[in-house]
Amino acid sequence: MILLICAPGRDHSGLVQRIGQLAPDLDVRVWPEVGCPQAVDFAVVWKHPAGLLRELTGLKAVSSLGAGVEHLLNDPDLPPNLPVGRLVGPRLAADMAGYLVAQILGDWRRLDRFPHHQRRKQWRPWAPDRPPQVGLLGFGRMGKRAAQAFKALKVPVAAWRRGAGTEASIPLHHDRQGLETLAGWSDYLVCLLPLTDHTRGILDQELFRRMKPDSVLINVGRGEHLVEKDLLDALAKNRPSLAILDVFGEEPLPPQHPFWTHPAVRITPHCASLTQPEEAAELIVASVRRVQAGLPPLDPVQWEFGY
Ligand code: GLV
Repeated sequence: MILLICAPGRDHSGLVQRIGQLAPDLDVRVWPEVGCPQAVDFAVVWKHPAGLLRELTGLKAVSSLGAGVEHLLNDPDLPPNLPVGRLVGPRLAADMAGYLVAQILGDWRRLDRFPHHQRRKQWRPWAPDRPPQVGLLGFGRMGKRAAQAFKALKVPVAAWRRGAGTEASIPLHHDRQGLETLAGWSDYLVCLLPLTDHTRGILDQELFRRMKPDSVLINVGRGEHLVEKDLLDALAKNRPSLAILDVFGEEPLPPQHPFWTHPAVRITPHCASLTQPEEAAELIVASVRRVQAGLPPLDPVQWEFGY
């Protein structure tokens, strides 16, 4: 089987080496060294060049190299019946949970004040009198792992998801009313949603109006979930009072963008959770094996939900 890896601008040597160890029978190609494009059986792609899928006429399945699949679903060359998978492993979900715990508890406990005190040799103990309330938008693999991490720390957590759920471990909201209820309850409102026609622009002024004064918005989903202008207006009204953003409509964030210098915006450059070669290699091989056995790739897209 011929496997193509295509994620322009990334170094894949570690990934390819590990796939070779795990599955020596696979013929692994790294774009742009595709060889005969019609012979490729399975492609794993991230922000692939336009037109690539049109050339890969022998594909049996395709997978995103990460959790998001919108770059594939928005590609007009994606053949209508081609199975589409994604890579979401326990490491990716745990790293995301770790990022959220670090950002939220670091901010809630105001850990950034202590280095200032230290420089002045000031002994000023302080801790908040209650844990924060964390609201998760999205309750898939990432959301569930994050909820588990907060629960273990006795931090109250609730979530909102597409449809009514049966998860008993935390309060679960759905529909528009549930979204607004969660926004009004949360000290930290975290967007972990997939990008679909239903979720694009969901972080907008209507939602910000429901947030508590002094609350914090965190976006680790996609830049397109956020209506940037609405956020700038909302920050001026203190609802939310801070935005922690890892993803942006345009990446890298252009130098002239107001978020860079806004006092109430904290930026991380799309690194809340990064696909690690070791885990990616294992997932890719497992996905290939499934396709060889006539099954869909790992974590297949559910077309009816758009992700
Ligand atoms: C990262 O943003 C991913 O989708 O894996």
